[in-house]
Amino acid sequence: MQIGSVKINGYAALAPMAGVADRAFRLMCVEFGAAYVVGEMVSSKGIVYGDRKSEELLILDDNERPAAVQLFGDDPDTMARAAELAMKYNPDVIDINMGCPVPKVAGNNCGSALMRDPALCRRIVAAVVSAVDVPVTAKIRKGYSARSVNAVEVALACEDGGASAITVHGRTREQMYSPPADWDIIRQVKQAVKIPVIGNGDVNSAENAAKMYRQTGCDLVMVGRGALGAPWIFAQINAYLEKGELLPDPPVEKRMEILLRQVELAVGFKGERRALLEARKHAAWAVRGLPGASRLRAKAGKISTFDQLKALCREVCEISSQK
Ligand SMILES: Cc1cc2nc3c(=O)[nH]c(=O)nc-3n(C[C@H](O)[C@H](O)[C@H](O)COP(=O)(O)O)c2cc1C
Repeated sequence: MQIGSVKINGYAALAPMAGVADRAFRLMCVEFGAAYVVGEMVSSKGIVYGDRKSEELLILDDNERPAAVQLFGDDPDTMARAAELAMKYNPDVIDINMGCPVPKVAGNNCGSALMRDPALCRRIVAAVVSAVDVPVTAKIRKGYSARSVNAVEVALACEDGGASAITVHGRTREQMYSPPADWDIIRQVKQAVKIPVIGNGDVNSAENAAKMYRQTGCDLVMVGRGALGAPWIFAQINAYLEKGELLPDPPVEKRMEILLRQVELAVGFKGERRALLEARKHAAWAVRGLPGASRLRAKAGKISTFDQLKALCREVCEISSQK
């Protein structure tokens, strides 16, 4: 599978997840075999106005390649300028967000709201393509609402604008994240376009990844929430698709080691205070399904130093060894 000239080696990509899939988490996923990662969405206006926080989100590590930065916005010129500026961070791919459902984004005509205007989607892709010399892709949804399911039309518009691949999340904007994703829309897009299609929505196990490949004919699957607290899912998907081997989840001690390593990396990138606030969510995901999970989750919600996280991880290991 290739996105333009960028070779993707492996079977599953990590989905962009704002506030969650930061550099540290992406690096863990790549260590476990994620074939491709997409950074958290960044405002094109923020980049063009020189907003420091937006710029920070563009940073990609040399060890997380190939990687995309994802931009959102609704003005072709601003998107093109932001893409040009983002090239300072050497992304392998520029991805355009056409799927975000949150009011702050979609309410400003960006993200999933773009899908209401396929001609605008085409113009944005074309403007970004002419501004940069790396492949440009778009991530879309099934449609904006049940009454406007138009993923095929939008994918064709993006292809026409020069997109090198398209990611399809099989839910409408209205559906946000909860009903089961419609994989048939991914199959329909795959049949309609010539560029590679990345399938997304509800891939949360190796067997499920194989099923998405079979049912949709997609070129790559993209995992979002299935990787939270479980970055090893990429190793499981690769082993299953390469050798038919079903790898078990790592033992609890190993899981806690992985969490600590991820948060340690995050501390290095953004400082202890911010990293540990964000680590609360990651710790809660990491204890999912373990003995005493709900009490441990409540504890995870209160940590604010790395030492407290280490103590929590020790407690998790102790509880699990007693069961
Ligand atoms: C916390 C969170 C943040 C997200 N942020 C982004 C984002 O920045 N850009 C984007 O295109 N999609 C974003 N998404 C959507 C995911 O990339 C993905 O399309 C969605 O979660 C469906 O895949 P899944 O069922 O594997 O989770 C986000 C999803 C979650 C849960």
